Amino acid sequence: MTASPSLLAPDAPWVVLKFGGTSVATVERWHTIRRLAAARREQGMRVLVVVSAVSGVTDALKALCTCASEAREGALASLVARHRELAAQMQLDRADEMERWLASLAALIFPLSPGEGGEPAPGEGAGIRQSLVDSGPPLKPTSRRESAYSWQAAVQAHGELLSSALGAAFLTANGLATRWLDAREALLARDLPFLNERARRLSAQVQADPDPAFAAALAARGEVFITQGFIARDAAGDTVLLGRGGSDTSAAYLGALLRATRVEIWTDVAGMFTADPREVPGARLLQHLDYEEAQEIATTGAKVLHPRCLSPCRRARVPLWIKDTRFPELAGTVIGLQPAEAVPSVKAISSRRGITLVSMETSGMWQQVGFLADVFALFKQHGLSVDLIGSAETNVTVSLDPGENLLDSDVVAALATDLARVCRVKVIAPCAAVTLVGRGMRSMLHRLSGVLAEFGRERVHLISQSSNNLNLTFVIDEGILDGLAPRLHELLIRAGALRTDDAGLFGPSWQALYGAGAAGARAPWWKAERARLLELAENLHSPSGRGEKRATPRYVYHLPTIRERARALRALWSVDRVYYAVKANPHPAILAALAEEGLGFECVSPGELAAVEAVRAAHGSPRLFTPNFAPRADYEAALLDRATPVPEADGSAPGPGSRVASAEPLPTLDALHPLHHWPEVFEGREVMLRVDLDRGVGHHDKVRTGGAASKFGLPMEQLDAFLGLAREHHVRIVGLHAHLGSGVLDASHWAQVCGQLAGIADRIGSVRYLDLGGGLGVPSHPGEAELDLAALDAALGEVRRTCPQYELWLEPGRWLVADAGVLLARVTQLKRKGALHYLGCDAGMHALIRPALYDAWHPIENLSRLGAPADTLYQVVGPICESGDVLGADRHLPESREGDVLVIAQAGAYGESMASHYNLRPLAESVVIE
Ligand code: LLP
Repeated sequence: MTASPSLLAPDAPWVVLKFGGTSVATVERWHTIRRLAAARREQGMRVLVVVSAVSGVTDALKALCTCASEAREGALASLVARHRELAAQMQLDRADEMERWLASLAALIFPLSPGEGGEPAPGEGAGIRQSLVDSGPPLKPTSRRESAYSWQAAVQAHGELLSSALGAAFLTANGLATRWLDAREALLARDLPFLNERARRLSAQVQADPDPAFAAALAARGEVFITQGFIARDAAGDTVLLGRGGSDTSAAYLGALLRATRVEIWTDVAGMFTADPREVPGARLLQHLDYEEAQEIATTGAKVLHPRCLSPCRRARVPLWIKDTRFPELAGTVIGLQPAEAVPSVKAISSRRGITLVSMETSGMWQQVGFLADVFALFKQHGLSVDLIGSAETNVTVSLDPGENLLDSDVVAALATDLARVCRVKVIAPCAAVTLVGRGMRSMLHRLSGVLAEFGRERVHLISQSSNNLNLTFVIDEGILDGLAPRLHELLIRAGALRTDDAGLFGPSWQALYGAGAAGARAPWWKAERARLLELAENLHSPSGRGEKRATPRYVYHLPTIRERARALRALWSVDRVYYAVKANPHPAILAALAEEGLGFECVSPGELAAVEAVRAAHGSPRLFTPNFAPRADYEAALLDRATPVPEADGSAPGPGSRVASAEPLPTLDALHPLHHWPEVFEGREVMLRVDLDRGVGHHDKVRTGGAASKFGLPMEQLDAFLGLAREHHVRIVGLHAHLGSGVLDASHWAQVCGQLAGIADRIGSVRYLDLGGGLGVPSHPGEAELDLAALDAALGEVRRTCPQYELWLEPGRWLVADAGVLLARVTQLKRKGALHYLGCDAGMHALIRPALYDAWHPIENLSRLGAPADTLYQVVGPICESGDVLGADRHLPESREGDVLVIAQAGAYGESMASHYNLRPLAESVVIE
């Protein structure tokens, strides 16, 4: 393809495209660069391509600056080989400019005389120098170097000089006439007196205001240019570097200078995410950010964009796009002016490692005039910029961020020595800073209680709330950072602080974009069944067979979804038996379907035992009886022997030789009381023992079932007493059980429980079964990652191999049925109150109590207007006389009318089974569909 030969108008807009190290490391990537640049040119834009050094080259050059002199020749030779190899792959017959820069590099590393260069002794490396310098094209004279830093800058600049020289040759050879621009011509470092020599040379800053004269002069020279990231010149004309991430910064400076239409940062991810996707696969793409938010996210840890590159763009009002080179069609993140008012939300959680805290005890000097000025003067003197500050009567603690400072132990030690003259100093390192970013943090504090509780368990050194109301930061020991981000991300979503339901702002999750099977989440079944559901919502029925006829609220269950889930669990290699926790949903059709799929039943009351009796008898399904604080009579009733023959495998009626299923459920005990006070009920029987592993997990405090604050399980210190009672009364402990909570998305949880139970079982001796409980979670908020069943199986399988003598059981409820159920409701009334729009419907907390009880999130859609723009922000409420009767706060829905049908999704678990008659409203009916 060749670019259009037609000339661009002199005032054609500029676009700046920046490509990082991996994007310039292979010939395929260079073809992508050519395609993207040519497409912009075709659209009538002048193009400036900014490139980094080929990946790994900057580090190699840095090493070259510091390595022992005898190693230099080899290091240089390998850099030469790397670039020549790439040139060959790019099929560049003549890469003269690249050769020129290789020669210039050799001359710097191995100067002929001390006057010519900086560091090494003259005379070394004569061989390689001669082969490059003397046989290469004529060399521009290198300018006089004044210091080791200046020499380092000149050496390191060669990475970009080389890659851009290669790029100019490649693009031109491939039909896109491209001019090479020396970035040092465009970018002049600011002379900042507060920077020390090192920072001035290696981490310089540039003042880049729009410069129409420069833009016009450049336009006169051509249409497509390529230049170097990372480098600029100082007032004396010497090369300076822009520090880490300098290529992004260069692109931003150049975009500002040219007042470009936009700056596009092409990288390996689609943009900024709500958390680091390597740690949080469910992190969502942030599709729009204003400059300040993006600045905060970049400053507080997101690696995708260097923080320094935002302010030049902001000042010049140049939008900045982040795009994925591998998937150019993805929208990416667009950073620009603040968009129209959106729902206040935490936008991201980010973390930084390598933070150093400096704590300064002042013994009452805090109030003294000028104390802080004296202290901060010392930071300035050492070229250190302070990030966070916490103060008290006698103490000032500040943090130093390695991203902003060239931090090394020498600098910190020198600072500490100087500070010790004015106060008592303590350096605390390594620390980590975890930051929540979002506009209007202060108005979200009420949603952050879970996050605060999470931090409350750890030692927090410093909490800081930024005065621009954009961030809240916690400084903790670096060692406890691992695994924290996924927990916090989940907590924020669940608390409605990270409003991932706002589809305009929050794009797809990283997992959906790049994860295994990244086709994106499957559409829920009820979308395909819309017509049927609308019909069901019209179809009047009388719940009690008399009186008022109602069509809504009505639960609808989709049996194919339940069957599919059951099969997925039965397919787990590491699990021997799956019992369905009946409490999640005891609908007879669901019980029958699950019995057909070969599941057993976990029941917690005589009522639940009775509910499964018919299907148990038909299918011979095993049952567990796992009550808690149940009366003696419940156990007596449950343990009446009702042995019944099991039908044959082909479904024919049981004959005389048929297997007899023990109809008696296997009881679970979780206290001493029953064996102590009513041993005769259990005499000679087999029982399961539920133990308390002293920790709870789950989606809400109220569903965590471990630790002393929870009423479940036998505390471990009573185990010996229990074993003694069991021996005394001939009660055989055949299984151990633990259920630590509900709504767990961490796949390693059950393997951990298994390991602990196996350890206890080994002590008891008679145990054959380990029941690891239920609790398998389903992602409820948009963007939460699915529980990874394969990972669960793999982790559990590993533990299982170490204790093959035990059968492993699971007893999930929610995972099997939650997604299979919806609650249909009808809009009753609309009301506006201040800025809030209330949308009333006939389902309230009597029909679905989970939002009121656990702040649970259920997706809500207007089924009558499915697909219409969701542009009204509603508080979806029910008819119950309680302020807590809110099914969904701040939901984006199409403008709705009385009579519209709402679908409240993911209501198959703990919906109907927890419903009540409260306010004497009738119970919602339910139907199943095949
Ligand atoms: N096993 C035992 C001993 C249980 O107590 C429970 C649930 C389960 C298994 C099943 O847990 P699942 O797999 O469904 O998470 N009403 C709350 C959930 C409470 C669960 C009570 N026990 C909710 O709506 O989230």
